[in-house]
Amino acid sequence: DDEGPPPLTPLQKLTADMCKDEKTIKDLIVGRRVGFYKVRGEIGCGTFSRVKLGFHALTKDKVALKILDKTRLDSQAQRLLYKEISNMECLHHPNVVRLFEVVETPSRLYLVLEYAGGGDLHSRIATDGKLSDNASKIIFAQILSAIKYMHDINVIHRDLKAENVLLTCSGCVKVADFGFSTQVSNRSVALDTFCGSPPYAAPELFRDECYLGAPVDVWAMGVLLFFMVTGTMPFRAETIGKLRRCVIECAYTVPPWVPGPCQRLIKGILKGDPAERHAVDQMLGCDWLLPVQFPWTMATPELSSPLQSMLD
Ligand code: ADE
Repeated sequence: DDEGPPPLTPLQKLTADMCKDEKTIKDLIVGRRVGFYKVRGEIGCGTFSRVKLGFHALTKDKVALKILDKTRLDSQAQRLLYKEISNMECLHHPNVVRLFEVVETPSRLYLVLEYAGGGDLHSRIATDGKLSDNASKIIFAQILSAIKYMHDINVIHRDLKAENVLLTCSGCVKVADFGFSTQVSNRSVALDTFCGSPPYAAPELFRDECYLGAPVDVWAMGVLLFFMVTGTMPFRAETIGKLRRCVIECAYTVPPWVPGPCQRLIKGILKGDPAERHAVDQMLGCDWLLPVQFPWTMATPELSSPLQSMLD
């Protein structure tokens, strides 16, 4: 009385059919389907990559498909890419874009990423101007939560900027783009590669010194915070040389109308000497964030609607 194998679940059946189907393989090659995801329109592009919207063929779940053409990457860029993947694979946090899977063909690499449909923070501020004090708090608390998590496991992002802070449709923050990230063996490991975007780069990077990873991410968070609450960047200049001088001299002014607790936080972060700069735990304990419960992400479902209305 052999009952035979149990019936396949719908997902197993779909998987089995897809694997039998030669057309699927053709679809993968011409880019209409990646693994089990149907490929739709482009939602972003970077230097070496394009990002398209993907739908799971069965569950219809949306994902972001980051598409990389391996033939256009030199060996250094390929090395960085595999590092990005291995760093992302171990990051599981509600405020960090999840890497679900990687699909590889001879010429391309597809990263199947958690989808954040609310756009990025830079576009949001470019269109709508500065955020309210409350919205800034809630967004900053989530970035802080993500960075604390990463630093606790010795991962340094090194390219934090408003363009890499994505929002979901309900206003939840997802930190993205780990192309420059690195994992250090401990907190005192000094790094020496200039990474990231100049307006967000810490003075020690411009001074061409070896630097500790965590304070560089903290500095970038200070620039981000300034940008969120004022709608302008703290360090602006027509040339990179002038920008370098502004950053090294810490020449920025917080507008007087920024609430005192937020001003104090910005000034605690944007300190030229990395040893004097706030650490992540000092930021967590600052007055400005007191009204926000940490870890705030645990409360996302209840808070998402008020947050969205603040952002609207
Ligand atoms: N653009 C780049 N990455 C993205 C993501 N994970 N979700 C939505 N848009 C993106």
